[in-house]
Amino acid sequence: MSSLRKIGFVAAGLLFALSACSKSTTSSSSSTGTAPQSSAAASPAGSPMAATSPAAAANTAGASVYNTNCASCHQATGEGVAGAFPPLAGNPTVTGNATKVIHIVKYGLKGAITVKGKSYNGMMPPWGSTLSNADIAAVISYVRSSWGNAASPVTVADVKAVAK
Ligand code: HEC
Repeated sequence: MSSLRKIGFVAAGLLFALSACSKSTTSSSSSTGTAPQSSAAASPAGSPMAATSPAAAANTAGASVYNTNCASCHQATGEGVAGAFPPLAGNPTVTGNATKVIHIVKYGLKGAITVKGKSYNGMMPPWGSTLSNADIAAVISYVRSSWGNAASPVTVADVKAVAK
């Protein structure tokens, strides 16, 4: 268990460095914002969902928010990292009650959970202070309709309505 944790921490550290890096590129300058966007734009086009799901293909804003803020831990494939970051693909919590998903993303999550038969006991920071309600709505709609997930989108009003 402790060695697993250690791996988790090392991975989290590396991934944090990566995401911090991509974040600073996006926010620091508006004139050279093309590099991070190219990877975000490539993702929906290359996704197998693009052909079959118009909703997912149209949600380029959600894909972009995801690739910038979430993929470092949950991976671009939505598969996560076993034992450290839970998968969002094929995860019934993600496709279930929208209010619960909004609460998790807005206010963070910690404590033991089991996803697809594997245990996680980590901590996800809250996103409500760094992302706008519109970004949160877009990214939740994206994760609920990507990688084979097929749940309804959420609106900005839905996100706004969920209180701590
Ligand atoms: C620093 C790593 C990290 C980042 C970045 C991250 N998450 Fe998480 N996320 C986690 C961890 C760890 C958990 C599980 C927490 C626990 O064990 O209680 C989690 C849990 C979740 C869950 C709940 C899964 C379940 O089965 O209950 C959702 C939904 C989620 N994240 C969505 C997102 C979205 C959307 C983003 C981007 C806005 C994001 N996460 C960014 C680490 C991260």
